[in-house]
Amino acid sequence: MSDDGFNARIDALLADMTLTEKLGQLNMVSSDLTVTGPGKRGLPLADISAGRVGSVLNWWGAEETRAVQRRAVEDTRLGIPLFFGFDIVHGQRTIFPIPLAEACAFDPVLWEQTARVAAAEGAEDGLHITFAPMLDVARDPRWGRIAETPGEDPFVGAQFARAKVRGFQNGSPCAIAATAKHFVAYGLVNAGREYAQVDVSDRALHEVYLPPFHAAVSEGIAAIMPAFSDIAGLPMHANRKLLTEVVRDRWGFKGIYISDYAGIADLVSHGVAADLAEAAALAMLAGIDIDMMGFAYLKGLPAALERGLVNMTQIDVSVRRVLAFKFGLGLFDDPYRACNVGRPNTQRKRDRRFLALESARRSTVLLKNDNHVLPMTDSTGSLAIIGPLADAHHDMLGPWSALGEADETISIVDRLRLHWPHGRIMHVAGARLDSGDDGSIRAASVVAHACDISVLCLGESRHMSGEAGSRADPSLPAAQIRLARAVIDAGRPVVLVLCCGRPLVLPDWLVDGVDAVVVAWFGGSETGHAIADILTGSFNPSARLAVTWPAQVGQIPIWYGMRPTGRPADPNELYSSKYLDSPVEPRFVFGEGMSFTSFTIGEPVLDRPELRVGECLGVSVDVANTGSMRGRSTIFLFLHDAVASISRPMLELKAFRQIELGPESARKCASS
Ligand code: BGC
Repeated sequence: MSDDGFNARIDALLADMTLTEKLGQLNMVSSDLTVTGPGKRGLPLADISAGRVGSVLNWWGAEETRAVQRRAVEDTRLGIPLFFGFDIVHGQRTIFPIPLAEACAFDPVLWEQTARVAAAEGAEDGLHITFAPMLDVARDPRWGRIAETPGEDPFVGAQFARAKVRGFQNGSPCAIAATAKHFVAYGLVNAGREYAQVDVSDRALHEVYLPPFHAAVSEGIAAIMPAFSDIAGLPMHANRKLLTEVVRDRWGFKGIYISDYAGIADLVSHGVAADLAEAAALAMLAGIDIDMMGFAYLKGLPAALERGLVNMTQIDVSVRRVLAFKFGLGLFDDPYRACNVGRPNTQRKRDRRFLALESARRSTVLLKNDNHVLPMTDSTGSLAIIGPLADAHHDMLGPWSALGEADETISIVDRLRLHWPHGRIMHVAGARLDSGDDGSIRAASVVAHACDISVLCLGESRHMSGEAGSRADPSLPAAQIRLARAVIDAGRPVVLVLCCGRPLVLPDWLVDGVDAVVVAWFGGSETGHAIADILTGSFNPSARLAVTWPAQVGQIPIWYGMRPTGRPADPNELYSSKYLDSPVEPRFVFGEGMSFTSFTIGEPVLDRPELRVGECLGVSVDVANTGSMRGRSTIFLFLHDAVASISRPMLELKAFRQIELGPESARKCASS
């Protein structure tokens, strides 16, 4: 956000501010309405009144934010308003699919629309900024936060970044500021273990991990949050080279840096600072403006000043940026701006739910459909709905959904009952989600035997992914595996529906033993509705995997864009790049996803035979829907540089387009 026009007012304020008031502007505190980090604390109202707080997270509601804002404006000497932030990662009140799911829709327009609604609901809740979008490229399903990412590909990540920034910061009175996080390469935490160390080559950093952030900066992102992790021993909260020299000086980032939760104080635990004063000085010199819940600036900067580790001019730079951000938000003109947005009317609420339904449908990936078991169009037979996720209202909402209403969420069984008015539905959970047996596997087996077809709803609880959700073995819990065996053994057709925050490693017999595999992820408020629509053919699935799905844990990390090896895998050659005990191929590849109709894609036609530096190559293909149902196809344009001065990935995604076609119709699809 530009500080043009505010400078004189900021100068005047700065001249009048005490050190404590300045440090207060750099101090962000949390309430305990929801807990997103260690140490549960209530909102420190006395500190707010004393001017020792500049912003608040995890506090929402028009009336609630108004009351706290009043303290800052009326009680403090200078009356500087607060701003309120919250993690609106996949929806505020209306919950959309987790980002990993939404990425599978491969549709920037949809990504922007859901961010726009999330922003409006945030603004209605008195919020000014979201700590989203999360732009970490992730290739390791052990890492629980893969759920919050747009997947494994930097090009997709960059398109996602642009769409989300446009959606959140849309310029309307219902817009909110956005925060690109977690800068950078957090998805590379060692062996998928949360908060662990990162080592990354310069090439991977620049070609894979930085591009989504660069895209967000080009789109005018208001804030960036550094990652908890380090790179080669230098924690990101102390990384001046990347935060300031690359992002601010080279890319031209004009916004604010907000630390992650206690990320500055954590520099002591990282072992690069002896105490809070050193930690605060390192972060300040790196370029971080706001200290979220670390109290390192408030407590450490006075000592750092005394020791000469920082000077007042450096502190003033950050205070100036924070004040400029507040001016840019319009808070000095109307501190209660966000509290005045108003509540949505019934029609608007309905539109939002419809968007949640559309995004959940468009994010659900059909990965197997033998013998056309789907769609289930004959609704007169008997249907067994089995599994701990068949009626799981809360879990469908996913990991960042503190305000999503579980009782307004439609479960799979709820919705299938509506689609199955003439048939018989039998429902049994059969197993618990993440703990031992609940003894009802036998009951599930009886139900599976008694029905024409089983819909087996397995996966994770919402707490099994997201932050601090790393799993050394990202597969189905043992009780669910036993349940699956019992249902498959019943010998009737089985449709496996997976609700999860990551690609789950599945045994071969399970994937081979079921007739269909539908990956619904955590699809938000309308997950059950979307799944039922797909199972019964009211919606033709179109999503494609935005992440490679491993067949074995030992293949992780795995992604499509690997470089060629000098000794490609060859089953007949011992000295080749393979495993002795596992295939090299993933279970499902990046971009995989089926439809109920069939498409053919013609040969690519290039608009020029030769490409010179600075020129743009146009590529087009003919796409035809050769089936009998309307459907949407995703066309991917991958390149491979066959001979280059360094070895290039076997495939690099350069463009994607979606094209919707009626039955037996065709169209040309062009790259630009
Ligand atoms: C997470 C961030 C989040 C912050 C505030 C941290 O633990 O890493 O993604 O924005 O908490 O809730």
